[in-house]
Amino acid sequence: MKTYQELANTVIISTKKNRLLNYDDSLELVGTGRSAFAFRIKFSNKAIKIFFPDFTHVAKEEAEIYHTLQNISYFPTIYESGQNYIVMDFIEGRTLYECINHGVSITTDHINEIDAALLTASNRGLNPSDIHLRNIIITPNQEIKLIDVARFRQTKDCTQWHDLKLVYHQLYLKRFFPKKIPTTMLNIMAFLYKKHLLPSYLSSSKMG
Ligand SMILES: Nc1ncnc2c1ncn2[C@@H]1O[C@H](COP(=O)(O)OP(=O)(O)OP(=O)(O)O)[C@@H](O)[C@H]1O
Ligand SMILES: [Mg+2]
Repeated sequence: MKTYQELANTVIISTKKNRLLNYDDSLELVGTGRSAFAFRIKFSNKAIKIFFPDFTHVAKEEAEIYHTLQNISYFPTIYESGQNYIVMDFIEGRTLYECINHGVSITTDHINEIDAALLTASNRGLNPSDIHLRNIIITPNQEIKLIDVARFRQTKDCTQWHDLKLVYHQLYLKRFFPKKIPTTMLNIMAFLYKKHLLPSYLSSSKMG
C-alpha cells in the first residue's frame, strides 16, 4: 500500500490551467475547488486534498487550522499533511450546493446547526470565512460538517454566510421559490453575487 505522500505524488496537475492530468487508481475524484482537487481514498473513509501548483502554500495553513479544530464533530479529523496535500476524513453526504441542485430540502434546523458549527470555530479564536454552498456538507444522518477552513485565520470580515442566510430567509423559504435549481442558474446567481449585482435586500452592504 502506498503512503499518503506517495499517493499525493501520483496526482499530476498542469501548471498552466490546473488541469488534472493523472492520479492513482486508488483515488476517486470527489470535488474540485478554486485551489485544489479532493479525492476519496478508495476503500477507506479518508480524503486527500491536493492543492494546485500555485496554491501549495495553503496546505500548511489549512492543516494548522484543522489542528486547531480537532475534536469538534462539525469538522473532519486531519491525519497528515505535506507540502501540497492534506489527509482528512472523507465526509459522506451532499454539499448545500448539491442539495439545492438535486432538490433536497435545507431546513431551518440545518441552518441553526451551521450557525452552531461556526460558533465552535469562533470559540477557538478563529474567524470563519469563505462559508459558501460547496463548503458545507449535510451527511446522511442530517449532521452538518464544514470543510475548506483555509481562510479561517483571515482578519477581514467575511459576510458570505450572513448573505446566504438572508437569501435563505427572503427567498428559499418562500413557497413560490423553486427548491431545485439547475447548475447554470446557481452559477449565474453566484456570479451576480460576486459582482455585487444581487438586489440590496438580499446582500449585505459589505460584501467582499
Ligand atoms: N473531506 C472531504 N469529504 C468529502 N468531500 C470533500 C472533502 N473535501 C473536499 N470535498 C469536496 O471537494 C470540493 C473541493 O474541496 P475544497 O472546498 O476543500 O477545495 P477548495 O479549492 O479549497 O475550494 P474553494 O473553491 O471553496 O476555495 C468540495 O466542495 C467538496 O465537494
Ligand atoms: Mg471549497
